Amino acid sequence: MTRIAIITGASSGIGAATAEHFLQQGFSVINVSRRPCPVSGVENHCGDLATSDAVMALAQGLVSVVKTEQPSEVCLIHNAALMLKDNAENCSDDSFERAFHINVSAINTLNRHLIPVMPQSSSIQFIGSTLSEKAVGGAFSYVVTKHAQLGMMRATTQDLMGRGIHTALICPGFTDTEMLRGHVGNDETILADISKMNSFGRLIDPNEIARLVIWSHHNPVINGSVLHANLGQLEH
Ligand SMILES: NC(=O)c1ccc[n+]([C@@H]2O[C@H](COP(=O)([O-])OP(=O)(O)OC[C@H]3O[C@@H](n4cnc5c(N)ncnc54)[C@H](OP(=O)(O)O)[C@@H]3O)[C@@H](O)[C@H]2O)c1
Repeated sequence: MTRIAIITGASSGIGAATAEHFLQQGFSVINVSRRPCPVSGVENHCGDLATSDAVMALAQGLVSVVKTEQPSEVCLIHNAALMLKDNAENCSDDSFERAFHINVSAINTLNRHLIPVMPQSSSIQFIGSTLSEKAVGGAFSYVVTKHAQLGMMRATTQDLMGRGIHTALICPGFTDTEMLRGHVGNDETILADISKMNSFGRLIDPNEIARLVIWSHHNPVINGSVLHANLGQLEH
């Protein structure tokens, strides 16, 4: 029987690595992002998660695939995110709404449509951040929306009691992707400094997070958990 992994933001970074690992495990993999996934064999549902109409259309397309394929399990991975450089004094309503739409509202829309067609043994994996539980300066809308994802995961777990669908919030630390590199302006000195901020003195490889997502999907005992994946980040 078919098993389906639906991954938002599998066109790069953690999402692309996760797509590859699920394919290797024999899942049918669907990417939801503006650009296609670079991994061959992935079905692309391209669209912009920043607009309600596009998210509704994407959700309906995904529901249609799940209804047609009748999979034995679905792993829905909310991975796409927008990270802006903003702060409590300058975050405009427009940029806050954009971040909130991609990082929070789109997840709600996809869940609302897909949960009713997800069979038992399915899971919903939220890709949060260390910033789901702590704040740093200069990333206001990201910190707020990543905290919101923690609440969404916990509330979803409570609302899905008895449904056979489990959830988790996976919180990566500094991972070597476009998002991190873009945020620091591809500055190798900053990247080297960031690498020193954990116990192993390096950035996380996206494949390490991908392996954790798969493990989390296969282990419902962790339902409702926050899984820290940061190599033991230095705390200040
Ligand atoms: N890298 C880190 O250090 C780090 C740390 C903690 C948490 N995370 C989390 O890990 C997840 C993956 O990030 P990453 O580091 O792998 O970054 P990435 O390589 O930049 O990937 C981000 C993905 O989000 C998608 N996305 C962004 N805006 C979108 C939009 N408007 N519509 C549709 N898709 C959109 C992008 O696809 P398109 O551009 O093709 O649309 C891309 O596939 C995020 O939730 C991030 O917050 C990352």
